[in-house]
Amino acid sequence: MHNDVTIFSADHISCTFGSGKKIVRAVDDVSFSIASEEIVSLVGGSGCGKSVLAKVMLGLIQPQTGKFLYKGKTIENQIKHWREVQSVFQDPFSCFNQFFTIRSQLKDSFNVMEKKPSNKEMEDRVDQALLAVNIKPPEIEGKYPFELSGGQMQRMLLARIFILRPQVLIADEPTSMVDACVRANILDYLMKLKEELKMTIVFITHDIGLAYYVSDRLFIMHKGKIVEQGAPDDVTLSPKSEHTLQLLDDIPDIHKEWIKGRATSTVPA
Ligand SMILES: Nc1ncnc2c1ncn2[C@@H]1O[C@H](COP(=O)(O)OP(=O)(O)OP(=O)(O)O)[C@@H](O)[C@H]1O
Ligand SMILES: [Mg+2]
Repeated sequence: MHNDVTIFSADHISCTFGSGKKIVRAVDDVSFSIASEEIVSLVGGSGCGKSVLAKVMLGLIQPQTGKFLYKGKTIENQIKHWREVQSVFQDPFSCFNQFFTIRSQLKDSFNVMEKKPSNKEMEDRVDQALLAVNIKPPEIEGKYPFELSGGQMQRMLLARIFILRPQVLIADEPTSMVDACVRANILDYLMKLKEELKMTIVFITHDIGLAYYVSDRLFIMHKGKIVEQGAPDDVTLSPKSEHTLQLLDDIPDIHKEWIKGRATSTVPA
């Protein structure tokens, strides 16, 4: 159940890059709000502005126009913001330093906290987080990022989330580098995070089928705009925008079947 705290609210925000003829309207007059404990997916094709919107939520980019608030306030102190709002990005390798062991970097995650736990508690929490993403601690002992696969590294990013326990998670294509089986696991971990930590999650993907599976609400994006938003069943069963139809057309058959299965089971006989 969602409570009524508003986590993010965007009021006619726009983010542009460049100027003149070369101007890119990455986010173009977008308004929405996201409540605590909601899972909202931003879905859309490449370049439609999903990651830029994610960066606004993380306080990395300020919109040029409009008002963007986190819990009713503008984001002023990024470090403070990141204690509560964390991210998992497309490329896990860019989030870890190649020259330090993974374990030491997982432990470093505690540095953003105001009060670091004791060494013993940090070690325990790293172990618990690894187990939560199905990695036995000895598997990564003494290992560096380049010694792990892309999928394993994505799980390390999720492990970091289990360690930090942020209130809000922005997950930007966290399943892009993994095969179908690991993808299903990662989605399960995300659900686990939501259930156990009562997290608010913004999930970003090209795949409306995946989004359908994990979300309370979908925002369909196209060319910097949210062209449609609503509950997954409403958006997928009676799409109002041609861009939604296009995304539905593009999804893998297995997800189409799944949506169809759900659809018939929710329609009374
Ligand atoms: N720092 C930047 N400088 C200039 N243009 C940018 C910058 N960041 C993003 N853009 C442009 O803004 C638009 C939206 O980019 P964004 O990264 O949000 O796309 P996306 O929806 O995340 O795409 P993908 O699914 O491929 O990750 C693109 O046209 C991109 O080239
Ligand atoms: Mg992106």
